[in-house]
Amino acid sequence: MKKIIDEKIGISKAIELIKAGELVAFQTETVYGLGADFSNVGAVEKIFKAKGRPQDNPLIVHIAKPEDVQNIAKEIPNCFYKLAEKFMPGPLTVVLKRNEKVPNIITANGDTVAVRVPLNPVVREIIEKSSPLAAPSANKSKHISPTSAKHVEEDLGEDVALILDGGDCKVGIESTVLDLTTETPTILRPGAVTMEMLSEIFDDVKETKNAKIKVAKSPGMKYTHYAPKCETFMATSLENAKYGYDNAILSGKNPVYICLEINKKSFENRNTIVVGKNAEDYAKKLYGVLRFAEKKYDFIILQDLGDEGISGSVMNRARKSAGHKFL
Ligand code: TXA
Ligand code: MG
Repeated sequence: MKKIIDEKIGISKAIELIKAGELVAFQTETVYGLGADFSNVGAVEKIFKAKGRPQDNPLIVHIAKPEDVQNIAKEIPNCFYKLAEKFMPGPLTVVLKRNEKVPNIITANGDTVAVRVPLNPVVREIIEKSSPLAAPSANKSKHISPTSAKHVEEDLGEDVALILDGGDCKVGIESTVLDLTTETPTILRPGAVTMEMLSEIFDDVKETKNAKIKVAKSPGMKYTHYAPKCETFMATSLENAKYGYDNAILSGKNPVYICLEINKKSFENRNTIVVGKNAEDYAKKLYGVLRFAEKKYDFIILQDLGDEGISGSVMNRARKSAGHKFL
């Protein structure tokens, strides 16, 4: 059976499958999600099984509109609604105190729940007509997150009932996760809604730096992530990239440099993949390019853009892909 179907054609089938406790993958502006009825424990168990995901890593609940948060969370602070006005629907996930309706499997037995309103109107319609959806990224655990329907099929084609094709994801990296249960709002995972943007709403916002999270507050952050199936390194300068590349050649490897358009020319006749002109383009292309590169090459070098604004969020993922190894 063909699993991928245009999302507009597949709406009613998807609603039926979600109600029957099956898994449906769908497009969001960030990455594709693997969705199940959040209230159906058996269905949610299928998500963990399909991904090979550790049980101590909680799931995000996707709702159709900010007001629906009341069915999922309690003691909702006013700032939630301020954030909602500005960023929802959009690439922002907020951690709140959970209410009793949320099954333990979703929160990994914790007392908080992560909530997000995705931008895709087709997905919000499905949620309205079925149920809020528990959904992680639709990839095998530890592999690269999917930004097209095809990527989902590669990783989970066997395990999912339906893949709704909504085209390529516009942002390309996962949502910002912001914890509102701490005294000062805390970014647990950086994303397209940046520290600078959040600082317009809050007097103070903290960021959990990866190095510090030994016992991770956002449990997913402690696992290896986004790992291509071949050696991968970061390069902070063109010289380092060239040096690493030429050494890789000497040891019989087939390397590639993933970089912005402006750097391609100075890399002369070596292999490159251009991810576009700026950090937004890099975010959008990163995961697809990594999936392509791991098939065609056996040594990947990623251009490091530094930590300013959205670059920092993209580099958070790129550096994880490289296992924090630098040339
Ligand atoms: O953009 C996204 O957020 C995508 C799309 C599909 O919505 N979803 C996604 O889900 O990236 P996932 O499961 O791959 O990542 C969710 C992250 C994990 O790092 C998890 O540990 C964290 O959110 N998380 C979930 N619930 C949490 C909670 N109650 N407290 C703290 N962190 C939480
Ligand atoms: Mg994920």
